[in-house]
Amino acid sequence: MRILVGISGGIAAYKAITLVRRLRDAGVDVRVVLTEAAAQFVTPLSLQAVSGAPVRSSLFDAEAEAGMDHIALARWADQIIVAPASADVLARMANGMANDLLTTLILATEAPVTVAPAMNRHMWAHPAVQANLATLKARGVRVIGPASGVQACGEVGAGRMEEPEIIASALLAPPTAVRWQGRHVVITAGGTQEPIDPVRFIANRSSGKMGFALAAAAQATGAAVTLICGPNALATPAGVTRVDVHTALEMHAAVLGQDKMDVFIGAAAVADYRVAQPAPQKIKKTRDTDTLTLTLVKNPDIIHAVAQRSPKPFVVGFAAETEQLLQHARQKRITKGIDLICANRVDDNLAFDQPDNAVTAIWANGERAFARAEKAALATQLIELIDKVIEQD
Ligand code: C5P
Repeated sequence: MRILVGISGGIAAYKAITLVRRLRDAGVDVRVVLTEAAAQFVTPLSLQAVSGAPVRSSLFDAEAEAGMDHIALARWADQIIVAPASADVLARMANGMANDLLTTLILATEAPVTVAPAMNRHMWAHPAVQANLATLKARGVRVIGPASGVQACGEVGAGRMEEPEIIASALLAPPTAVRWQGRHVVITAGGTQEPIDPVRFIANRSSGKMGFALAAAAQATGAAVTLICGPNALATPAGVTRVDVHTALEMHAAVLGQDKMDVFIGAAAVADYRVAQPAPQKIKKTRDTDTLTLTLVKNPDIIHAVAQRSPKPFVVGFAAETEQLLQHARQKRITKGIDLICANRVDDNLAFDQPDNAVTAIWANGERAFARAEKAALATQLIELIDKVIEQD
């Protein structure tokens, strides 16, 4: 995916550096365009370093135009994000101005445009700004944020630029034709932590990225999405309700506590076993023993419990396997009562804690292999397949 990041002048411009990094982490090809005012807040050099490409700001840079002219740049982009979008750039966009490179590109592109406004709360509330925003929205420009909180000017209110992680996940979830308004999608993500004593636990290598990407993709359909996740450092996708848990038992309780579920996606790597009796105090090393034995007991199978519910939601599971991938996945689908399972090969460079993934989806009447792709793109394709399979049922 190719994203053009436009940065306009404002204190929040420093957050655009993190946005560019997050996009690059996800494998996105990024080009940065600064307005003249933005260059007062962040330097082209920093953005060149994080984006890995030359940064542009002038429409009249003969050398840059000789490389990729502004029309070529407008065609190059799959998406344009303006973050932060100042009151000034919103006004210029709303009026169709083309008095610098960024606004010219926005007029010349056919790619979807998103803005992440950032400004003082009074400016944000001003009818002129709100009217410009309404014009842009009516033209199909997507608006992310602003968030509320303490502002750089010391005031508290709406106008802070949305966090870069949230903007990145909204951009990475590609648009979808699936419409799930009125449905509730519950997704588990990440690994669980099973305590051994107050300072130690048993965990696994799951990062939660696939489940978070699925939550963003499900949210893009208009569904209400609840994301129940083990400990992780990921930002909650915009509009998603997040429930944090640690152990498999907590995840089990949180999932079964949801009253209405239309689709359940078990993307979490739930610990199969927990320590039977975690020690109340830190376990000490002793001189006379070289081994320590922990007794483990089986955790409840969350996905199996969901599949037994009546009415039964459409149940989607993952089978992360290191060998005999498809055989194990087909078997697991049947024994656990799963409607559609994603067989997920695990090795050092795939699946766990990676930005991309490759899966084979298996359901009662078919199988489909998805080529290796960024998790966000894969998540949207999976949601589209789930929608088709639900329609066939
Ligand atoms: O048996 P295995 O752990 O490989 O099954 C994987 C699938 O089952 C995943 O979808 C996972 O989220 C789900 N699972 C679960 N509860 C467990 C173990 C796995 O929901 N206790």
